[in-house]
Amino acid sequence: MTEKILVLNGPNLNMLGQREPEIYGKLTLDGINAVLVRMAEERGFSLETFQTNHEGAMVDRIQGAFGKVDGVIINPAAFTHTSVAIRDALLLLHVPIIEVHISNIHKREAFRRHSYVSDIATGQIVGLGVRGYLLALEAMMALLRKRDDLL
Ligand code: DQA
Repeated sequence: MTEKILVLNGPNLNMLGQREPEIYGKLTLDGINAVLVRMAEERGFSLETFQTNHEGAMVDRIQGAFGKVDGVIINPAAFTHTSVAIRDALLLLHVPIIEVHISNIHKREAFRRHSYVSDIATGQIVGLGVRGYLLALEAMMALLRKRDDLL
């Protein structure tokens, strides 16, 4: 069976590479997604990506994944700090969720410290730049194959 992983990105992450590069780096979202797809496929997983600037579109995409995905990696971007709707949609899925933030949200403005996703996520990766997506994918694949290299 090929497990399916869905990678979701929220508002303004389509501008990666141009958006505050001193915080978010120089790579584009397309570039990152291409690496993720390749990494997943090399290990026998399938991976789909989705980015939107619209909260309702994110809710619709998450609902569309109901019963169809085995794990979700999400950087909800600004919706992290505001969206009960995205949290509720994620709760529908009953699959492992890994929350990613490129920047360290705990080191920035106070309003970024609260996440509506972190307490329903399996884990959270923050502050490690776009490498966080790759680390999240490694962790998700290990979780789905029930492998733990550290033990
Ligand atoms: C972000 C952090 C959020 O606070 C911010 O609104 C983003 C990106 C990050 O990846 O560091 O858009 O999620």
